[in-house]
Amino acid sequence: MRLAGKTALVTGAGSGIGRQIALRFAAEGAEVFVTDLAGERAQETARLVEGEGGTAISGALDVTSASAVQEAMEMMIAQLGGIDIVANNAGVTIVGAAHSMQESDWDEELTVNLKSVYIVSKAAWPHLRSRGGGAIVCTASIAGLWAIPDDAAYCASKAGVVMLTKCMALDGARDGIRVNCVCPGFIDTPMIEGYFADQPDPQAARRFATGLHPLGRLGQPLDIADGYVYLASEEARWVTGTALVIDGGLTAGIWGGGD
Ligand SMILES: NC(=O)c1ccc[n+]([C@@H]2O[C@H](COP(=O)([O-])OP(=O)(O)OC[C@H]3O[C@@H](n4cnc5c(N)ncnc54)[C@H](O)[C@@H]3O)[C@@H](O)[C@H]2O)c1
Repeated sequence: MRLAGKTALVTGAGSGIGRQIALRFAAEGAEVFVTDLAGERAQETARLVEGEGGTAISGALDVTSASAVQEAMEMMIAQLGGIDIVANNAGVTIVGAAHSMQESDWDEELTVNLKSVYIVSKAAWPHLRSRGGGAIVCTASIAGLWAIPDDAAYCASKAGVVMLTKCMALDGARDGIRVNCVCPGFIDTPMIEGYFADQPDPQAARRFATGLHPLGRLGQPLDIADGYVYLASEEARWVTGTALVIDGGLTAGIWGGGD
Protein backbone atom coordinates (compact mmCIF):
# COMPACT_ATOMS: atom_id res chain seq x y z
CA MET A 1 0.00 0.00 0.00
CA ARG A 2 1.36 3.35 -1.09
CA LEU A 3 0.32 5.44 1.95
CA ALA A 4 0.68 2.87 4.72
CA GLY A 5 1.40 4.41 8.12
CA LYS A 6 0.46 7.92 6.98
CA THR A 7 -2.25 10.21 8.33
CA ALA A 8 -4.09 12.55 5.98
CA LEU A 9 -6.40 15.53 6.35
CA VAL A 10 -8.86 15.99 3.48
CA THR A 11 -10.98 19.15 3.21
CA GLY A 12 -14.23 19.35 1.27
CA ALA A 13 -14.43 15.56 1.57
CA GLY A 14 -18.20 15.29 1.88
CA SER A 15 -18.74 15.24 -1.86
CA GLY A 16 -17.28 14.78 -5.31
CA ILE A 17 -13.50 14.84 -5.67
CA GLY A 18 -12.77 15.16 -1.93
CA ARG A 19 -14.84 12.09 -1.07
CA GLN A 20 -12.93 10.07 -3.66
CA ILE A 21 -9.58 11.36 -2.37
CA ALA A 22 -10.52 10.16 1.12
CA LEU A 23 -11.53 6.74 -0.22
CA ARG A 24 -8.37 6.34 -2.30
CA PHE A 25 -6.06 7.54 0.51
CA ALA A 26 -7.66 5.05 2.89
CA ALA A 27 -7.47 2.25 0.33
CA GLU A 28 -3.73 2.93 0.14
CA GLY A 29 -3.40 2.52 3.90
CA ALA A 30 -3.65 6.09 5.23
CA GLU A 31 -5.71 6.99 8.27
CA VAL A 32 -7.90 9.82 7.07
CA PHE A 33 -9.47 12.81 8.81
CA VAL A 34 -12.48 13.48 6.59
CA THR A 35 -13.73 17.07 6.90
CA ASP A 36 -16.32 19.21 5.18
CA LEU A 37 -18.38 22.31 5.84
CA ALA A 38 -21.29 19.84 5.90
CA GLY A 39 -20.38 17.63 8.86
CA GLU A 40 -23.01 14.99 8.12
CA ARG A 41 -21.65 14.49 4.59
CA ALA A 42 -18.13 14.16 5.99
CA GLN A 43 -19.52 11.53 8.34
CA GLU A 44 -21.10 9.72 5.39
CA THR A 45 -17.71 9.67 3.62
CA ALA A 46 -16.07 8.27 6.76
CA ARG A 47 -18.72 5.53 6.82
CA LEU A 48 -17.94 4.73 3.18
CA VAL A 49 -14.21 4.54 4.03
CA GLU A 50 -14.91 2.20 6.94
CA GLY A 51 -17.26 0.15 4.74
CA GLU A 52 -14.28 -0.51 2.48
CA GLY A 53 -12.12 -1.56 5.44
CA GLY A 54 -10.29 1.76 5.88
CA THR A 55 -9.77 3.97 8.92
CA ALA A 56 -11.34 7.43 9.15
CA ILE A 57 -12.49 10.02 11.61
CA SER A 58 -14.70 12.87 10.51
CA GLY A 59 -15.75 16.36 11.49
CA ALA A 60 -17.42 19.54 10.31
CA LEU A 61 -14.78 22.05 9.26
CA ASP A 62 -15.10 25.44 7.62
CA VAL A 63 -11.72 25.99 5.97
CA THR A 64 -12.20 29.76 6.01
CA SER A 65 -12.00 29.87 9.81
CA ALA A 66 -8.41 29.87 11.08
CA SER A 67 -9.53 29.09 14.64
CA ALA A 68 -11.71 26.16 13.53
CA VAL A 69 -8.86 24.80 11.40
CA GLN A 70 -6.48 25.10 14.35
CA GLU A 71 -8.89 23.19 16.59
CA ALA A 72 -9.41 20.51 13.96
CA MET A 73 -5.68 20.08 13.59
CA GLU A 74 -5.27 19.62 17.34
CA MET A 75 -8.08 17.07 17.38
CA MET A 76 -6.39 15.19 14.54
CA ILE A 77 -3.05 15.14 16.34
CA ALA A 78 -4.77 13.89 19.50
CA GLN A 79 -6.71 11.15 17.73
CA LEU A 80 -4.37 10.04 14.94
CA GLY A 81 -1.03 11.02 16.45
CA GLY A 82 0.21 13.35 13.73
CA ILE A 83 -0.23 14.63 10.23
CA ASP A 84 1.70 13.63 7.10
CA ILE A 85 -0.57 14.63 4.21
CA VAL A 86 -2.85 17.62 3.65
CA ALA A 87 -5.39 17.62 0.83
CA ASN A 88 -6.55 21.22 0.32
CA ASN A 89 -9.59 20.38 -1.76
CA ALA A 90 -12.59 22.41 -0.50
CA GLY A 91 -13.91 24.86 -3.04
CA VAL A 92 -16.91 26.66 -4.45
CA THR A 93 -17.72 28.10 -7.83
CA ILE A 94 -19.61 31.34 -8.28
CA VAL A 95 -20.03 32.36 -11.89
CA GLY A 96 -19.73 35.97 -13.01
CA ALA A 97 -17.62 38.42 -14.97
CA ALA A 98 -15.40 40.83 -13.04
CA HIS A 99 -17.33 43.86 -14.28
CA SER A 100 -20.70 42.61 -13.09
CA MET A 101 -20.23 40.30 -10.11
CA GLN A 102 -21.03 41.28 -6.54
CA GLU A 103 -18.10 42.16 -4.31
CA SER A 104 -19.40 39.71 -1.70
CA ASP A 105 -19.27 36.87 -4.27
CA TRP A 106 -15.73 37.83 -5.22
CA ASP A 107 -14.71 37.78 -1.55
CA GLU A 108 -16.37 34.43 -0.90
CA GLU A 109 -14.75 32.79 -3.93
CA LEU A 110 -11.27 34.04 -3.09
CA THR A 111 -11.63 33.19 0.59
CA VAL A 112 -12.95 29.64 0.21
CA ASN A 113 -10.77 28.66 -2.74
CA LEU A 114 -7.51 30.50 -2.10
CA LYS A 115 -7.21 31.95 1.40
CA SER A 116 -8.23 28.58 2.86
CA VAL A 117 -5.17 26.96 1.30
CA TYR A 118 -3.01 29.44 3.20
CA ILE A 119 -5.00 28.93 6.42
CA VAL A 120 -4.94 25.13 6.38
CA SER A 121 -1.35 24.79 5.15
CA LYS A 122 -0.10 27.27 7.75
CA ALA A 123 -1.85 25.39 10.55
CA ALA A 124 -0.47 22.04 9.36
CA TRP A 125 3.06 23.31 8.73
CA PRO A 126 4.62 22.87 12.22
CA HIS A 127 3.12 19.40 12.49
CA LEU A 128 4.48 18.36 9.10
CA ARG A 129 7.88 19.78 10.01
CA SER A 130 7.91 17.93 13.32
CA ARG A 131 7.48 14.66 11.38
CA GLY A 132 10.48 15.50 9.20
CA GLY A 133 8.33 16.58 6.28
CA GLY A 134 5.17 15.64 4.47
CA ALA A 135 3.02 16.33 1.45
CA ILE A 136 0.52 19.09 0.75
CA VAL A 137 -1.64 18.64 -2.33
CA CYS A 138 -4.13 21.28 -3.48
CA THR A 139 -7.02 21.11 -5.91
CA ALA A 140 -6.45 23.94 -8.38
CA SER A 141 -8.08 23.71 -11.82
CA ILE A 142 -7.43 24.13 -15.51
CA ALA A 143 -9.34 27.36 -14.77
CA GLY A 144 -6.17 28.48 -13.00
CA LEU A 145 -4.25 28.07 -16.27
CA TRP A 146 -6.83 28.94 -18.92
CA ALA A 147 -9.41 31.72 -18.66
CA ILE A 148 -13.11 30.81 -18.81
CA PRO A 149 -15.64 33.47 -19.78
CA ASP A 150 -17.98 34.62 -17.01
CA ASP A 151 -15.89 32.87 -14.35
CA ALA A 152 -13.44 35.59 -13.29
CA ALA A 153 -13.22 35.04 -9.54
CA TYR A 154 -13.02 31.26 -9.86
CA CYS A 155 -10.22 31.48 -12.44
CA ALA A 156 -8.35 34.07 -10.38
CA SER A 157 -8.69 31.98 -7.22
CA LYS A 158 -7.36 28.85 -8.93
CA ALA A 159 -4.48 30.72 -10.58
CA GLY A 160 -3.69 31.86 -7.05
CA VAL A 161 -3.71 28.27 -5.83
CA VAL A 162 -1.21 27.30 -8.55
CA MET A 163 1.18 30.10 -7.56
CA LEU A 164 0.70 29.61 -3.80
CA THR A 165 1.56 25.94 -4.38
CA LYS A 166 4.84 26.92 -6.03
CA CYS A 167 5.70 29.46 -3.31
CA MET A 168 5.00 26.97 -0.52
CA ALA A 169 7.03 24.34 -2.39
CA LEU A 170 10.10 26.58 -2.24
CA ASP A 171 9.46 27.54 1.37
CA GLY A 172 8.97 23.91 2.41
CA ALA A 173 11.81 22.31 0.50
CA ARG A 174 14.42 22.50 3.24
CA ASP A 175 11.97 20.98 5.72
CA GLY A 176 11.02 18.09 3.45
CA ILE A 177 7.53 19.48 2.91
CA ARG A 178 6.54 18.87 -0.71
CA VAL A 179 3.71 21.00 -2.10
CA ASN A 180 1.93 20.25 -5.38
CA CYS A 181 -1.45 20.82 -6.95
CA VAL A 182 -3.67 19.10 -9.46
CA CYS A 183 -5.47 20.95 -12.24
CA PRO A 184 -8.60 19.00 -13.17
CA GLY A 185 -10.61 19.50 -16.33
CA PHE A 186 -14.41 19.30 -16.02
CA ILE A 187 -15.18 16.59 -13.45
CA ASP A 188 -18.61 15.04 -13.02
CA THR A 189 -19.50 16.17 -9.47
CA PRO A 190 -22.32 18.13 -7.83
CA MET A 191 -20.25 21.30 -8.35
CA ILE A 192 -20.15 20.93 -12.11
CA GLU A 193 -23.84 19.97 -12.15
CA GLY A 194 -24.52 23.28 -10.42
CA TYR A 195 -22.32 25.09 -12.92
CA PHE A 196 -24.24 23.56 -15.84
CA ALA A 197 -27.55 24.35 -14.13
CA ASP A 198 -26.57 28.03 -14.03
CA GLN A 199 -26.17 28.12 -17.82
CA PRO A 200 -29.09 29.10 -20.09
CA ASP A 201 -29.23 25.55 -21.55
CA PRO A 202 -27.75 23.07 -19.03
CA GLN A 203 -27.87 20.05 -21.38
CA ALA A 204 -26.12 21.98 -24.13
CA ALA A 205 -23.54 23.19 -21.60
CA ARG A 206 -22.82 19.59 -20.55
CA ARG A 207 -22.47 18.48 -24.18
CA PHE A 208 -20.20 21.42 -24.92
CA ALA A 209 -17.99 20.75 -21.87
CA THR A 210 -17.76 17.06 -22.70
CA GLY A 211 -16.72 17.87 -26.26
CA LEU A 212 -13.85 20.04 -25.01
CA HIS A 213 -12.00 16.92 -23.78
CA PRO A 214 -10.12 15.06 -26.53
CA LEU A 215 -10.40 11.83 -24.53
CA GLY A 216 -14.13 12.05 -25.08
CA ARG A 217 -15.81 12.27 -21.67
CA LEU A 218 -16.02 14.37 -18.55
CA GLY A 219 -13.56 13.41 -15.82
CA GLN A 220 -14.57 11.30 -12.85
CA PRO A 221 -13.49 12.05 -9.26
CA LEU A 222 -11.34 8.91 -9.37
CA ASP A 223 -9.27 10.38 -12.24
CA ILE A 224 -8.25 13.18 -9.86
CA ALA A 225 -7.95 11.10 -6.69
CA ASP A 226 -5.44 8.80 -8.41
CA GLY A 227 -3.27 11.85 -9.14
CA TYR A 228 -3.59 12.84 -5.49
CA VAL A 229 -2.35 9.43 -4.36
CA TYR A 230 0.70 9.75 -6.58
CA LEU A 231 1.59 13.26 -5.35
CA ALA A 232 1.04 12.31 -1.71
CA SER A 233 3.09 9.12 -1.96
CA GLU A 234 6.79 8.32 -1.87
CA GLU A 235 6.65 7.82 -5.65
CA ALA A 236 6.59 11.63 -5.93
CA ARG A 237 9.57 12.08 -3.56
CA TRP A 238 11.35 14.36 -6.07
CA VAL A 239 8.25 16.26 -7.16
CA THR A 240 7.43 19.62 -5.62
CA GLY A 241 5.95 22.84 -6.94
CA THR A 242 4.24 21.13 -9.82
CA ALA A 243 0.75 21.67 -11.21
CA LEU A 244 -0.34 18.24 -12.45
CA VAL A 245 -2.89 18.69 -15.22
CA ILE A 246 -5.50 15.91 -15.32
CA ASP A 247 -7.92 17.03 -17.98
CA GLY A 248 -8.47 14.44 -20.72
CA GLY A 249 -6.27 16.53 -23.00
CA LEU A 250 -8.36 19.70 -22.73
CA THR A 251 -5.39 22.06 -22.40
CA ALA A 252 -3.01 20.11 -24.67
CA GLY A 253 -3.80 22.32 -27.63
CA ILE A 254 -6.47 23.42 -30.06
CA TRP A 255 -9.14 20.76 -30.36
CA GLY A 256 -11.86 20.83 -32.97
CA GLY A 257 -14.49 19.29 -30.73
CA GLY A 258 -15.92 15.82 -30.28
CA ASP A 259 -17.70 15.36 -33.63
N1 LIG B 1 -15.84 19.51 -10.64
C1 LIG B 1 -14.99 20.12 -11.45
O1 LIG B 1 -15.18 20.16 -12.68
C2 LIG B 1 -13.74 20.73 -10.90
C3 LIG B 1 -12.74 21.10 -11.81
C4 LIG B 1 -11.57 21.67 -11.34
C5 LIG B 1 -11.41 21.87 -9.98
N2 LIG B 1 -12.40 21.53 -9.12
C6 LIG B 1 -12.17 21.77 -7.71
O2 LIG B 1 -12.25 20.54 -7.02
C7 LIG B 1 -12.58 20.79 -5.66
C8 LIG B 1 -13.72 19.87 -5.27
O3 LIG B 1 -14.84 20.19 -6.09
P1 LIG B 1 -16.00 19.15 -6.45
O4 LIG B 1 -16.19 19.24 -7.90
O5 LIG B 1 -15.75 17.85 -5.80
O6 LIG B 1 -17.23 19.92 -5.79
P2 LIG B 1 -18.34 19.49 -4.73
O7 LIG B 1 -19.24 20.64 -4.65
O8 LIG B 1 -18.87 18.15 -5.06
O9 LIG B 1 -17.48 19.37 -3.38
C9 LIG B 1 -16.94 20.51 -2.76
C10 LIG B 1 -17.03 20.31 -1.27
O10 LIG B 1 -16.41 21.44 -0.64
C11 LIG B 1 -17.17 21.74 0.49
N3 LIG B 1 -16.97 23.13 0.92
C12 LIG B 1 -17.42 24.27 0.35
N4 LIG B 1 -17.08 25.32 1.09
C13 LIG B 1 -16.38 24.86 2.15
C14 LIG B 1 -15.77 25.45 3.28
N5 LIG B 1 -15.83 26.78 3.48
N6 LIG B 1 -15.13 24.66 4.17
C15 LIG B 1 -15.08 23.33 3.98
N7 LIG B 1 -15.66 22.69 2.95
C16 LIG B 1 -16.31 23.45 2.05
C17 LIG B 1 -18.61 21.51 0.08
O11 LIG B 1 -19.46 21.33 1.21
C18 LIG B 1 -18.48 20.27 -0.77
O12 LIG B 1 -18.70 19.08 -0.03
C19 LIG B 1 -12.90 22.27 -5.56
O13 LIG B 1 -11.78 22.97 -5.06
C20 LIG B 1 -13.16 22.66 -7.01
O14 LIG B 1 -12.93 24.01 -7.25
C21 LIG B 1 -13.55 20.96 -9.55
